[in-house]
Amino acid sequence: MSLLRIETPRLLLRPFSPADASAVVQLDADPDVIRFMRAPQYPEAEMAEVLSRYAAHYENGFGMLAGVLKATDTLVGRYGVQRITVEGIEELEVTYSTRREYRRRGYALEATQAVLEAAWREGVPRLVGCIAPDNDRSVRLAERLGLRFERDVVYKETEMRMYAIDSPASG
Ligand SMILES: CC(C)(COP(=O)(O)OP(=O)(O)OC[C@H]1O[C@@H](n2cnc3c(N)ncnc32)[C@H](O)[C@@H]1OP(=O)(O)O)[C@@H](O)C(=O)NCCC(=O)NCCS
Repeated sequence: MSLLRIETPRLLLRPFSPADASAVVQLDADPDVIRFMRAPQYPEAEMAEVLSRYAAHYENGFGMLAGVLKATDTLVGRYGVQRITVEGIEELEVTYSTRREYRRRGYALEATQAVLEAAWREGVPRLVGCIAPDNDRSVRLAERLGLRFERDVVYKETEMRMYAIDSPASG
C-alpha cells in the first residue's frame, strides 16, 4: 500500500520529519486537540525524536501525514490513516486535526477526501472514525466525507461514537 504522498489542490500530504517538530508541538498544544485527541504533549526536542520514529510506521505504507501548504511547506494539519483496535477489532481510522489558525477554510475536508480516494485506490475495504460525542466539528467532517454512525464504542477508555464508510468497490 502506498498512502504516503497525496496531493490536493492546495495541500501536499507527506511524511513527517523531525523538522516539523515545532509546528506539531503547537498543533498538539491546542485545547481541542488535547481534549478530543488526547495528544501527548512533548517538548520540541522530544517531538523531533517522536517524529523520527514515524519512519518505522511508514514502512506499512500508510500513517499520519503532514498536511502542508504546497507553496510554502507550512504545516496546516495532520491527516492520514492509522491502525487502531476498537473493542478487540482491528480497524483503519481516518484521522484529522487542523491547526486552529487554518480551521474553517476547508483544509480538513480537502485533505481527508483525498486520503479516502487514495485509500480506496489502494484497496482499503473500510475506514472508521472514533469520535467523542460532543466533538461537533469532527462529526460534521466525518458526515461530509460520507461516514455514517455505526455504533457506540469504548475506545481509549472513553465512550465514543464510531463512524464508518465502506469502499465504493465493496458494494
Ligand atoms: C475536526 C477539525 C479537523 C475540523 O476542521 P474544520 O476546519 O472545521 O474543517 P474544514 O477544514 O473541512 O472546514 C469546514 C468549514 O470551512 C468552510 N470553508 C471555507 N472555505 C472552504 C473551502 N475553500 N472549501 C471547503 N470548505 C470551506 C466550510 O463551509 C466549513 O464551514 P461549516 O462547517 O461552518 O459549514 C478541527 O475542528 C480540528 O482540528 N479539531 C481538533 C482535532 C480533532 O478533534 N480531530 C478529530 C478527532 S476525532
